[in-house]
Amino acid sequence: MLITGGAGFIGSTLARRLAHAGYDVAVMDVLHPQVHGRDAVIDLPPTVRLFTGDVAHAPDCDAVLRLVQPSQIVHLAAETGTAQSLSEATRHSSVNVVGTTQLLDALSRAGHVPDQFVLASSRAVYGEGAWQSDAEIFYPQPRSHAQLQAGIWDPQGPTGDPAVPLPSAASRTEPRPTNIYAATKLAQEHIMAAWTAAHDTDLSVLRLQNVYGPGQSLTNSYTGIVALFARLSREQLPLEVYEDGRILRDFVYVDDVVEALFAAIQRPAAHPRCLDIGSGVPTTIHELARQAATLCDAPEPVVVGKFRDGDVRAARCDIGPATKELDWHPKWTLEDGLAALLDWIDGHPEFSSRGAE
Ligand SMILES: NC(=O)c1ccc[n+]([C@@H]2O[C@H](COP(=O)([O-])OP(=O)(O)OC[C@H]3O[C@@H](n4cnc5c(N)ncnc54)[C@H](O)[C@@H]3O)[C@@H](O)[C@H]2O)c1
Repeated sequence: MLITGGAGFIGSTLARRLAHAGYDVAVMDVLHPQVHGRDAVIDLPPTVRLFTGDVAHAPDCDAVLRLVQPSQIVHLAAETGTAQSLSEATRHSSVNVVGTTQLLDALSRAGHVPDQFVLASSRAVYGEGAWQSDAEIFYPQPRSHAQLQAGIWDPQGPTGDPAVPLPSAASRTEPRPTNIYAATKLAQEHIMAAWTAAHDTDLSVLRLQNVYGPGQSLTNSYTGIVALFARLSREQLPLEVYEDGRILRDFVYVDDVVEALFAAIQRPAAHPRCLDIGSGVPTTIHELARQAATLCDAPEPVVVGKFRDGDVRAARCDIGPATKELDWHPKWTLEDGLAALLDWIDGHPEFSSRGAE
């Protein structure tokens, strides 16, 4: 079993889960300083072999495959900065797109075809996703800067009538990436689908919603909103909530995601499959902020009406197909997950914003 990006947030949690279940696990990871800081402390069990290498660098891939002939590969290595990807498109493409093709080319050079691939893709591939206004389903354009400046937060329907976001489902929602990161994740899906079909091998693509939990990089300023809110609340700082507070997300706890990846590994697919992985419960950013503040007795969050270009308004998904196909069910509520994340933060005072200065 090889996990690329296996020293990261999701990868290291998965590596521990697999090692615990008796898998022989190898990890290939470049230990990216933006994720791990300068003095990376990697939390992997001693039985897991860590190969430091760059998936976008052919000799590194060759070197790893000389030492490991994995029957399964979980491909997680990626540049994950959504906003950052708009100004560092080449860096994101080099790792996410070329890194995927380099890995596959190295397998071809090694004459090795794994029995199974699992790819962590992202809900970002949907962009704004599908919305419904009356009986009409439509795919809104990305919200423009002028629209956001005017405080028109919801995407506009063709008739201008109020609209609601629909849960995304791989079987029916068209991918419409609105940033470079999302485009590279969709490219990864297509590249791996083509390669695995040509080599008659198994592929599971899991499109993950917003993953949070212990182990998430707290020093990476591009890390998700849950880690940021948890850290600021713990420091008794008031949380600023953007737009009107009603941006919608599905926050899924890392252990639930790891169980979905584990289930996908244990149940190879008869056909290539693409599944949405989330908690299944949409939450507004204001509600997330309130829960984080309440748990920490921090000041009431403030809705500030600021916005970020490129943010999508709503992200939610239909986890029905994944629950059936994988016999998997998310277990963590947001409240319990936040409490576990806060406990973990408390154990790492070096991650406080004061400590990071
Ligand atoms: N965390 C989320 O909310 C989320 C949501 C959707 C999809 N995903 C996907 O899940 C995967 C894992 O994400 P994560 O949250 O654990 O991120 P992470 O940044 O914690 O982990 C990614 C790991 O990949 C490594 N890496 C980066 N570039 C590399 C390269 N060139 N060669 C080898 N290793 C490299 C990093 O050092 C890091 O350890 C990614 O593919 C990401 O796109 C994550």
